[in-house]
Amino acid sequence: MKDIKAVVFDAYGTLLDVHSVIEKLDTVFPEKGTQISQIWRTKQLEYTWLMSLMGRYDNFFNTTRRALIYALKALKLDFNADLCETILNEYYVLKPFSEVPAALENMQDKKIAILSNGNLEMLNTVVKNAKLDKLIPNILSVDELKIFKPFLGVYQLAPAKLGIPREQTLFVSSNSFDVVGGKVFGFKVAWANRAGNQLDELDVKPDIEVKDLKQLADLIKS
Ligand code: LAC
Repeated sequence: MKDIKAVVFDAYGTLLDVHSVIEKLDTVFPEKGTQISQIWRTKQLEYTWLMSLMGRYDNFFNTTRRALIYALKALKLDFNADLCETILNEYYVLKPFSEVPAALENMQDKKIAILSNGNLEMLNTVVKNAKLDKLIPNILSVDELKIFKPFLGVYQLAPAKLGIPREQTLFVSSNSFDVVGGKVFGFKVAWANRAGNQLDELDVKPDIEVKDLKQLADLIKS
């Protein structure tokens, strides 16, 4: 980890807790929040993969809306378009995981970026609302290429925009598929595995696995 010059983060699930929507969901659909959130997130990612395989694209905010509608219909819940937008707006105020601000402070000697499926409008807003904007000066979105991770070309956005070669870039994700994608692309990769998940069986392993970003910040401190 000695010659790492840039640290590039996945956003949703890595810096920001997508399941912080549960609180709001529970107020609208009592006791259903966790179940909705799980289906919502699973479908959101599935749709990115499905669309990319078919050569189709719709931005991540719209994809997130489609996944929410699927989840609410799958659970046979009553909703209308306004309620759907109200819930969807929670994506602008997702909470960062608690250790994230201090960990980012500790890495400011490196180039820091986000590389996410999110489109810029949703990323800029949520990062600002989470008060991470000063700590993350570079926000890169797959929206520029109109295809989602783990299409390898999207990882190229980081070296292209930051001017740091892939071997000197540490890519950090909590999402196993993204860990695999980043590693196949040629980044150094850290898996932020807070939940103790199983790695996918795709013959690709991260360079390091950490339980959270505090541990990562301590490890890469120069
Ligand atoms: C992202 C999704 C993968 O932020 O969480 O790109």
